[in-house]
Amino acid sequence: MKPVKVGICGLGTVGSGTFNVLKRNAEEIARRAGRGIEVAQIAQRRPNPQCDTGSTPITAEVLAVADNPEIDVVVELIGGYTLARELVLRAIANGKHVVTANKALIAVHGNEIFAKAREQGVIVAFEASVAGGIPVIKALREGLAANRINWVAGIINGTGNFILSEMREKGRTFPDVLAEAQALGYAEADPTFDVEGIDAAHKLTILASIAFGIPLQFDKAYTEGITRLTTADVGYAEALGYRIKHLGVARSTDQGIELRVHPTLIPADRLIANVNGVMNAVMVNGDAVGSTLFYGAGAGQEPTASAVVADLVDVVRAMTSDPENRVPHLAFQPDALSDHPVLSIEACESAYYLRIQAKDHPGVLAQVASILSARGINIESIMQKEAEEHDGLVPMILLTHRVTERHMVEAITALEALDDVVGDVVRIRVEHLN
Ligand code: HSE
Repeated sequence: MKPVKVGICGLGTVGSGTFNVLKRNAEEIARRAGRGIEVAQIAQRRPNPQCDTGSTPITAEVLAVADNPEIDVVVELIGGYTLARELVLRAIANGKHVVTANKALIAVHGNEIFAKAREQGVIVAFEASVAGGIPVIKALREGLAANRINWVAGIINGTGNFILSEMREKGRTFPDVLAEAQALGYAEADPTFDVEGIDAAHKLTILASIAFGIPLQFDKAYTEGITRLTTADVGYAEALGYRIKHLGVARSTDQGIELRVHPTLIPADRLIANVNGVMNAVMVNGDAVGSTLFYGAGAGQEPTASAVVADLVDVVRAMTSDPENRVPHLAFQPDALSDHPVLSIEACESAYYLRIQAKDHPGVLAQVASILSARGINIESIMQKEAEEHDGLVPMILLTHRVTERHMVEAITALEALDDVVGDVVRIRVEHLN
């Protein structure tokens, strides 16, 4: 059988990794796919001396690949929203299948892209868009298809996890570690996407749609970054038996879907709390299977290429099948997507870590306890440290039971209004993941 012809758009880190893996493992890939997969054209705007593309035709014109009648599958690896969207929509309009690693594109424009793909009967595959080499989309969409998914929680940004791991293990400062992550090539072009949780929210948006069968709604995801975390809180969390991770949480409740990315205390004995460095991990809890954990490299040249090439194999296997009988893009049949709302952060529920800087007076703890109890907030534990030498203030650390964000915000406002409380109350959400 003739090989399937692929056009790779973008020959950066992932593009060159994809080219190399396709070349190196060509025989194994053909044995799996049933046909060879040949790179018939590459679009690159800048030369990549690291990648030996041999005699493969190269163009500087990205859209030419979408218009090339020889190409069966367009692989979009240029990133961003604008040209990538144009390329993908043009490829679909020309009846080509698409493989993309672009989480921002899928999270923001996925509903439109999938609708056009259905009209044309083509596949858009995007495994590499979430957690790099971890086949979590495949697992959630197919392997866990029997389940009602309760929640998904993941460390889905390697740069952020690297920063938090280095802060905890080596006491390094935030800017120092970020600079290293950039030098290692893990950080996004705009590193605020990593540290403010935007990149993780793109990925969480995709996971939530596939887990719960809802349209992609990136604009409703809540994001809170890690830039204000201090080594003091990392240390106090440790003393209480927790690790702080930048977690994406998507939870199905009777009221709606929680979709949130924020620093989170996790019990240190959970496997996911021990995922360090640039590694990613995603927990999925289903009603039948219970909790599962998917772990691996969330970024990097060949781990991401591994997911891109697996998608290519899937496309080759399914391209001759009836479009109606293919696995739906978002796991659920498009006419069966649910309108269960995404909740505002005020309506979300979690346990909390609070750090209060208090004057060293009798009765402060009683006032704090009274404010919390008046709002139905149950204290799980309290740790009070010695007064700080430089200001005489006492750090008071509390863990609470689960409460809605709205009630916690009210309580924090009341705590900060106390004469004996100095400065802002530090608030970090806690998830037990059980
Ligand atoms: N900047 C991302 C990360 C790359 O650090 O995880 C992979 O999406």
